[in-house]
Amino acid sequence: MHRALCPTTVKAHDNTGHMANRNLSEAKKAKQDEFYTQMNDIQTEINAYLDYDENTFRGKTVLLPCDDPEWSNFTLFFAQNFERLGLKKLISTSYAPESKTAKYGSLFAYAASQSDETPKNERGKIFILDHDVNANGRIDFEDLEWEYLKGDGDFRSEEVRRLRDEADVIVTNPPFSMFREFLAWIMDDRDLAAKNTKKHKGKTRQFLIIGNMNAITYKEVFPLIMDNKLWLGHGFTHGNAYFRVADGSRTEYANGVYDSTTNLVKFRNVAWFTNLEHGRRHQPLQLMTMAQNIKHSKHKEVRGIGYRRYDNYDAIEVPFTDAIPSDYDGVMGVPISFLDKYCPEQFEMLGITDRGNEYGIKTREYTENDSPKYGDLNRRGAILIDGELQSTYARILIRQHH
Ligand SMILES: C[S@@+](CC[C@H](N)C(=O)[O-])C[C@H]1O[C@@H](n2cnc3c(N)ncnc32)[C@H](O)[C@@H]1O
Repeated sequence: MHRALCPTTVKAHDNTGHMANRNLSEAKKAKQDEFYTQMNDIQTEINAYLDYDENTFRGKTVLLPCDDPEWSNFTLFFAQNFERLGLKKLISTSYAPESKTAKYGSLFAYAASQSDETPKNERGKIFILDHDVNANGRIDFEDLEWEYLKGDGDFRSEEVRRLRDEADVIVTNPPFSMFREFLAWIMDDRDLAAKNTKKHKGKTRQFLIIGNMNAITYKEVFPLIMDNKLWLGHGFTHGNAYFRVADGSRTEYANGVYDSTTNLVKFRNVAWFTNLEHGRRHQPLQLMTMAQNIKHSKHKEVRGIGYRRYDNYDAIEVPFTDAIPSDYDGVMGVPISFLDKYCPEQFEMLGITDRGNEYGIKTREYTENDSPKYGDLNRRGAILIDGELQSTYARILIRQHH
């Protein structure tokens, strides 16, 4: 650990030359993984955990495994707030430039990159902060030291896995194209089980990561939600997540997603996934009764109509989270976005009407001939409308606690 950071100049990089060697769709996927979280979103999210428990990060080692301070506001945030959070150690690792396919203007330049040292672009870097290197009386970004990793900094590598095993909390916005693999990597607790000491008994690895909201329905993810091992974080302001993207990938976003005045892309379907406690998760939803909903609901699908029953699940269809009837005792199918409002003290989660995730409350199975029009009818909730069975979106099945 000998190279210090020099957070002074802003440089632009162009590393797209390596793309030519890559398979195009691979390259496209990797390029779409290059988007960078905004500082205010990180601040808002972390503050929600601190509001709930100011000691959330105290005495802990935090690993940021996809984060180079040149581009990552995560590293910047945790380094600048090292003392406020009471961290024991901050470790941030970066993926080698040669392993990436796109780059963009950096936030900071390294002291080393201004020196004569030839950059080792095939290697990732490790940045560590744990003491007051420059002896100015406080530990912050300027005390970050770095060196090259042996390999390219792939989170799946042995050396980054060892850092994972050292960490108490893992925080990042990982490559979306590898979300499943990344989550499995976090949840792999063999190292914790192996350390069968008093100190580690029952210990779980904590995490806070960003991912696509659709991940909720993945068969690798939903069971974790059911088991209370993962939930949605506090969330992006008004559900809008803005990210900075690499120069070369701007044209690849759909109309209205990339804003050329701010250089940001806006995603509506992105969420924080975590097992850290926060306050909103324990605030029950304020709801109307079924009768009140039928009379006053702002949704025309409910007002004057009421709630339909599924043909294949013993449950009613509730098409909007704010239309959940407060006095219904049975099982209800609610939109996936309900999870953002899920308070485990208020509702019990029973399952999801989606591939590979069904739970045992279905009332009937369909054959091919039964419903040839809808491939999903076996697992998605089906409703009989005007004599025809219609498939609903994937729904989460819940019941009120009493
Ligand atoms: C969605 S970006 C987010 C970057 C940063 N965490 C942030 O939030 O600003 C994901 C980052 O992971 C890097 N990455 C891609 N594959 C990786 C891998 N196998 N191991 C580690 N990092 C990887 C990408 O190069 C990219 O910089």
